[in-house]
Formats: sequence, C-alpha cells, structure tokens
Amino acid sequence: MPPYQLLLSLVLASSHVLVNAADPSPVEDYDVLQYVDPLIGSANGGNVFPGATLPYGMAKAVADTDSESNQGGFAYEGGNVTGFSSMHDSGTGGSPSLGNFPLFPYAKCAGDEVNGCVYPKKQRKIKYKPDSVQAHPGYFAIELASGVRVDMTAAQHTSLFRFQFPNGSSPLILLDLTDLSDSRQDNATISVDESTGRMTGDARFTPSFGSGSYTLYFCADFESPALKRDSGIFVNSRASADVHDLKISRSINGYPLPGGGFVRFKSAPDNTILARVGVSFVSTKQACSHAESEIKDFNFNATHQAAIDQWTEKMRPIRVSRTGIDNSVLTNFFSGVYRTMVNPQDYTGENVLWSSNEPYFDSFYCLWDSFRSQIPFLTIFDPNAVIKMVRSLIDTQRHLGWLPDCRMSLCKGYTQGGSNADNILADVYLKGLRDGIDWDAGYAAVQKDAEEEPYDWSNEGRGGLRSWKNLHYIPVEDFDYEGFGTMTRSISRTLEYAYNDFAIAQMARGLNKTADAERYEKRSRNWRNLFKKDQTSLWKGNDTGFTGFFQPKYSNGTWGYQDPLACSNIDMSGRACSLQNTAGETFESSIWEYQFFVPHDMSTLITHLGGPTNFTNRLDHLHDTNITYIGNEPAFLTVFQYHYAGRPAKSTSRVRTYIPDYFSPTPAGLPGNDDSGAMGSFVAMAMMGLFPNPGQSVYLLTVPFFEAVSIDALSSILVV
Ligand SMILES: *[C@@H]1O[C@H](CO)[C@@H](O)[C@H](O)[C@H]1NC(C)=O
Ligand SMILES: *[C@@H]1O[C@H](CO)[C@@H](O)[C@H](O)[C@H]1NC(C)=O
Ligand SMILES: *[C@@H]1O[C@H](CO)[C@@H](O)[C@H](O)[C@H]1NC(C)=O
Ligand SMILES: *[C@@H]1O[C@H](CO)[C@@H](O)[C@H](O)[C@H]1NC(C)=O
Ligand SMILES: *[C@@H]1O[C@H](CO)[C@@H](O)[C@H](O)[C@H]1NC(C)=O
Ligand SMILES: *[C@@H]1O[C@H](CO)[C@@H](O)[C@H](O)[C@H]1NC(C)=O
Ligand SMILES: *[C@@H]1O[C@H](CO)[C@@H](O)[C@H](O)[C@H]1NC(C)=O
Ligand SMILES: *[C@@H]1O[C@H](CO)[C@@H](O)[C@H](O)[C@H]1NC(C)=O
Ligand SMILES: *[C@@H]1O[C@H](CO)[C@@H](O)[C@H](O)[C@H]1NC(C)=O
Repeated sequence: MPPYQLLLSLVLASSHVLVNAADPSPVEDYDVLQYVDPLIGSANGGNVFPGATLPYGMAKAVADTDSESNQGGFAYEGGNVTGFSSMHDSGTGGSPSLGNFPLFPYAKCAGDEVNGCVYPKKQRKIKYKPDSVQAHPGYFAIELASGVRVDMTAAQHTSLFRFQFPNGSSPLILLDLTDLSDSRQDNATISVDESTGRMTGDARFTPSFGSGSYTLYFCADFESPALKRDSGIFVNSRASADVHDLKISRSINGYPLPGGGFVRFKSAPDNTILARVGVSFVSTKQACSHAESEIKDFNFNATHQAAIDQWTEKMRPIRVSRTGIDNSVLTNFFSGVYRTMVNPQDYTGENVLWSSNEPYFDSFYCLWDSFRSQIPFLTIFDPNAVIKMVRSLIDTQRHLGWLPDCRMSLCKGYTQGGSNADNILADVYLKGLRDGIDWDAGYAAVQKDAEEEPYDWSNEGRGGLRSWKNLHYIPVEDFDYEGFGTMTRSISRTLEYAYNDFAIAQMARGLNKTADAERYEKRSRNWRNLFKKDQTSLWKGNDTGFTGFFQPKYSNGTWGYQDPLACSNIDMSGRACSLQNTAGETFESSIWEYQFFVPHDMSTLITHLGGPTNFTNRLDHLHDTNITYIGNEPAFLTVFQYHYAGRPAKSTSRVRTYIPDYFSPTPAGLPGNDDSGAMGSFVAMAMMGLFPNPGQSVYLLTVPFFEAVSIDALSSILVV
C-alpha cells in the first residue's frame, strides 16, 4: 500500500488524525482565537473580508473603503471609508461584491440643518485613523477622522453597529441604496417610519462575477439613549424630513442616483447609537424578523459573545503543538483555517429561486479555486458543513439544470475552465461522506456535465462537447454551434475536462457503473492529444532546455502555436489572460504551468516530460525562474508534485520558501486574491504537511511546521 493511501485510511478509520506525532500524547488545549487575525490579506489585492461574521454567515459587517482593488469591503491600505454595510464576499475577483445599503454617520450637519450633511458616497467619504482598526472573529472596530468611533458584530443575517459620537453631537445616520460596485438597477425603494426611525426597503443589483441580478431587502432599526429628532429621505445632495418614502431610478448615465433615508438624534450625554441591520433575499418582512429574532434587544456584548462562542466551537477540532513555535507562525496557520469558513455562505431559507427542504449555500467564489484545497480541507475539518454544501450543489443542479462552477448572490458565476464541481463531488464521495447526500443524483449531475452541452457554457457545464467526444480534444477555434461561451482556453479546457472526466470515472467505479467508469477513464486520457513532443520553449531567444510541451491544435489536426511562456508570471507583454476573447489557449496561466495539470496520470505525464529527473528539473525551472505565480490557484499542486518523481523532500523545501516568503501574517501578506479562502486553505494544509491531490484519495505529505497537528474529525458521518 503506498504511504498516501495509508494516511487516508487513517482519516477514514479514526476520529483523530495525528500528523507526525513525535509524541503521541494529545496536543494541549488553548484559546485558538488569539491566533486569528482577520486583517491578513486585507491589503495588496488579497481582497479578504476582514470584518465581523459568523462561520459561513450571511451578514458580514465592515467599513467599506474606496480602494481600487476588488476589496471585501475594507482594504487596510489608507483610502477613505464610504460607509458601513452588512453583505460581503471574501477574496473576490471580477468587481467588488455586495456592500449593499451602507450606513454613514455624521456627528452633526453643518448649520444644524439636514441639508448641511453630505449624502452622495463620492463626496461624503472620509479618512480613518489607521491605528484605530481592530479585527477579531466576530468583531471589527474603526475610528473615522470625524472622531466617530464605530464597532460592529454580527449574527447570521443581522449586523449590529455601535456608533459612538463625540459629546455635543446631534448625530445623523444615513442609509444609502447603493453597493460597492454601483451596480444598482431600477426602482430601489426605502420607507422610513416617522415614529420609530425603522428603515425598510430593497434594491436590485448585479453580481460581481456572474450574470443576471439579485434583489436584496433590508430592515434597519436604531436604538439610543438619545431621543430621535427627525427622519426622512435624501436624493442626490438634498434631504428632507417631510418625505419618508422614496422609489428611485437608475440615472441615465449609468451611475445610480444617490438616494436613501436618514434618521437624526438629539444631543445626549451618551451619544451611542446602535444600528441593527437585518438583510434578506426574500422580503423586508423576513429581514425584519431575522433582525428581531437574532438580535432581540440590541445587546452588543451578547451578540459579540455568541459570535466568539461559535468561532471557538468551529475551531475546536484543530490544535497544533506550540513547542518552539513563534506566535506569527501560529497566526499564519490559524488565520488560514479561519478564512476557509468565511465563504461559502449559508443562505438556507433565503433562496427565492426554488422551494426545497435542502440546505442552500452560496458564494462559491469560485469552485475552480476551492476544489484545490479549500473544500478538501473542510472535508476533513468540518464534514457536516461540506455535506450541506454538496447537498446544496446537487439541489442547485436539480432545479437550475446544472452544477455551478461559480455562484454568488443567488446568481450564476462564470466558468473559468472545466466543470469543477465534478472534482468536488468526487473528492467528497471518495472521502466517504454519505449522510444525507443523494449520490445517485450527484452522479447524474456530474454525468450531465460530461455529456450535455449547455446553451450558455459561460455560466455552467462545458463547451465543445461534440469535439471532446469525437476529436478527443478541444480544438483551437472550435466549430461549436450548440452552445456559446468564450472560445479560448482550448489547452486548459482540454486538461481540465480530462481531469473532470477522471473525477466522474472514480464516482462511477464507486457506484459500480463499470461501463461508465471505463468510458470516462478513456476520456480522461484526452490530455495526451495536445502534447507536442518536439515543442521547445525559448525565453528571450534562449532555449529553456526542455523539449515537449502542450500546444493548441486545430480541428483538422494541424498544430497551432502558443509560446509556452505566454501568460506566465514573466510574460511582460501586458496581454490579458482571463476571460477576454483575446486571452489565448490557457486560462490565467501559461503552458509552462499547465504542463503539470495531469493530476490523475502522473506517471504517463512524467514519461512524456522526459522521466523523473527531467520532470524534477522542469518543476525547479518553473519555481526558480518565477514562471509560476503562487498567488493563483493553478500553482498550488506544482509545489507538491515532486512527490511523483520520488523527490518529496523538494516539495517540503518549496513549501518552506513560499511560506512565509509569500504567505505571511500581515495585511499585505497574501500573494494574490484569497479567492473565498482558497489561499487560506493552501496555508493551512501546507503547514499541516498534508496536501490533497484534490479529487483523489491521495494526500502528499510534507514535513509539518509543527511537532504535532491534531484534528478531531467527526467519524460518525464518515463511512469506513
Ligand atoms: C480619499 O479621498 C480623498 C478626497 O476625495 C482623495 O483625494 C484621496 O485620494 C482618497 N484617498 C485614497 C487613498 O483613495
Ligand atoms: C463626554 O461626556 C461624558 C458625560 O458627560 C463624559 O463622561 C466624557 O468624558 C465626555 N467625553 C469627552 C471626550 O469629552
Ligand atoms: C420603475 O418604475 C416606473 C414608475 O413606476 C415604471 O414605469 C417602470 O416600469 C419601473 N421599472 C422597472 C424595471 O420595474
Ligand atoms: C460580555 O460581558 C461579560 C460579562 O461582563 C464579559 O465577561 C464578557 O467578556 C463580555 N464579552 C465580550 C465579547 O465582550
Ligand atoms: C458495488 O459492488 C460491490 C461488490 O459487489 C459491493 O460490495 C458494493 O456494495 C457495491 N456498491 C454499490 C454502491 O452498489
Ligand atoms: C541568454 O543567453 C545568453 C548567453 O548564454 C546570456 O548572456 C543571456 O543572459 C541569456 N538571456 C536570458 C534572458 O536569459
Ligand atoms: C488546418 O486548419 C488551419 C486553421 O484553419 C490551417 O491553417 C491549416 O492549414 C489546416 N491544415 C490543413 C492540413 O489543411
Ligand atoms: C532529459 O534531459 C536530458 C538532459 O538535460 C536531455 O538530454 C534529454 O533530451 C531530456 N529528455 C527529454 C525527453 O526531454
Ligand atoms: C517575480 O515576479 C513578480 C511579478 O509577478 C515580481 O514582482 C518579482 O520581483 C519577481 N521575482 C523575481 C525573483 O524575479
């Protein structure tokens, strides 16, 4: 039995995984939240959500800034605060996600007139005191240059903001019908209750990396020792306490007209105002009932403590030996673990698209990222949550026809390459999670990806399936009249579809569908059809010394050409390599990097690449010459693939350079977008010394950063 399989059986057979136990005695217990720093990845394009949330929570409270990146609300890099909002994603690409219905506080309006306050987001934004920022699980605090201090916590669908104003204030808090990327569509509404100050309303927005639109509802209440003075609505730069209802259009130039409501308070000895904001995709009624039931009495301490308790419980299964370990190493590790549970988000009860008793998870942002280590990590660490996620994915397919490759805000996200939910389902199936998952439906869902081309494969499934079945590769400039999507990425799609088919084959084996298994195993070898044996790779006129690379191929069998270094980290041509229609044949990465993406047929790949020594040299070249970019997910597995050439020590050595050189416990400490916790899971699993080859019952072992790592998995739901 190869060592990797031995380890897996440990995972399945016992409730306690102990990696590299020099001393088999249990690792000591301690408060693990002291080592969680939510600010890691909140600067330098990490786009991490650093605010207050529960595990997988829908309400995510933070200060929003006007940064240029796709920040998860707050970017810790200077900039200005534009408001305080309750919905966010973590590690977003595309455009900034959510950030709907922000509140904004004023200690006083100029001239003591409501029109003396500034309402539009672009004008009202304000600097904050950098040293005032505090972030802990379930808590975020900041002080604005105006002297207003704001701290916040969250329940599942409700945020609680505590605004502390300087003495002598007559505070005004506005609520703006906007979002982070100004995507609001027509006819947003707000009503302000004159006697209570309660604000309710809704607006329709567009998702940040997907198609369609979503409607979100809110319910905001205010509680303060200070008496309410007046309330009303604003449009553009003008406000009035005489009007309490507003329906506002999008303006003709595309930028949504500023509009919303406000409530103003009299001066009081204690100028603390609590704002409770419930959100819902169903109705304002549901937003209000969430708020009323989740944070009944505006008790900040109790809400905060409940969040701490939930995070403590979530982190309970994992401990590492702290012997000889710096706090910064522990912070790097546990913060990575924490980020795997910020996204996806549990929207059960909030899905208006179909009715079902199944759980509903959202903010799979995107599965192309999370299949590689985030979901495999959670499969060990929080299998109950993974079961719900998989049931939700299968239910989504049941009602919308297709498994997503990406999903956010009740909308379809864009596919980046393959149908990568297949890899996730296979991974979870192979690792033995069964409880409540309808695996027949799961198998039918992945098989549909492999067999049926959707009309719009930008959003789901795969394109070019006719070629895939008949030519056995995705040709460059494919002739595809059955479905539509960006006709690029023929190499990376070929490699990813081959792996997706392998994932399906393994499920078929498990379900005793032998004929299917053989069919998909055969198709999983299609990657070989794009390997051009005599292809060389030049860099600035010099041969890199390796022969044999993937190349694009036309449907008539003639080779095309793409420089193997194009779209690599050292390609300075400035070309766009994402979903643009000029992006080329590899997605967000080069042929150099994609040459290693045959995770299921490594021995054949190694033979193609010239044997174990040449293969090792190629991996060295990839890492040593900066071709790879560890800030994007295709790089993850290449760190560990030395194992397949019999050189596991080199995998350990690579891990030790990337962590902490590229992953360090600071706001700017991530090399790229966290992608919903993908980077967090890379750090967690690499430091544990247990990295998955995702979609297979294989873990690649490296030397852990700790003397011992202990995970108490829930063995009751694992089938041995
Ligand atoms: C903050 O806002 C001010 C005023 O609009 C602007 O000049 C400044 O560039 C902003 N800061 C950042 C870092 O964006
Ligand atoms: C504000 O007033 C309160 C009560 O009068 C007092 O305790 C507090 O010190 C004052 N704060 C400031 C910043 O002056
Ligand atoms: C917005 O409201 C206006 C006025 O009531 C109506 O004419 C229009 O059809 C509405 N637009 C949408 C998209 O609902
Ligand atoms: C809430 O209050 C209790 C009792 O005063 C205190 O022990 C606890 O630390 C507080 N919790 C938080 C999160 O502040
Ligand atoms: C597959 O077949 C084996 C051997 O006949 C049997 O033990 C197993 O239970 C079957 N699995 C399923 C899912 O039917
Ligand atoms: C190419 O090779 C020449 C001669 O060995 C060397 O001087 C030059 O630095 C190399 N260029 C690059 C880009 O590596
Ligand atoms: C195959 O198609 C490509 C692209 O249209 C073309 O350049 C090439 O000449 C064709 N090869 C043959 C053998 O017809
Ligand atoms: C393997 O590497 C050796 C030495 O660099 C080279 O001579 C040989 O051609 C390579 N083989 C392949 C298939 O690339
Ligand atoms: C590697 O590439 C990055 C750009 O992605 C650059 O910032 C960095 O300096 C490069 N490192 C080396 C050693 O060339």
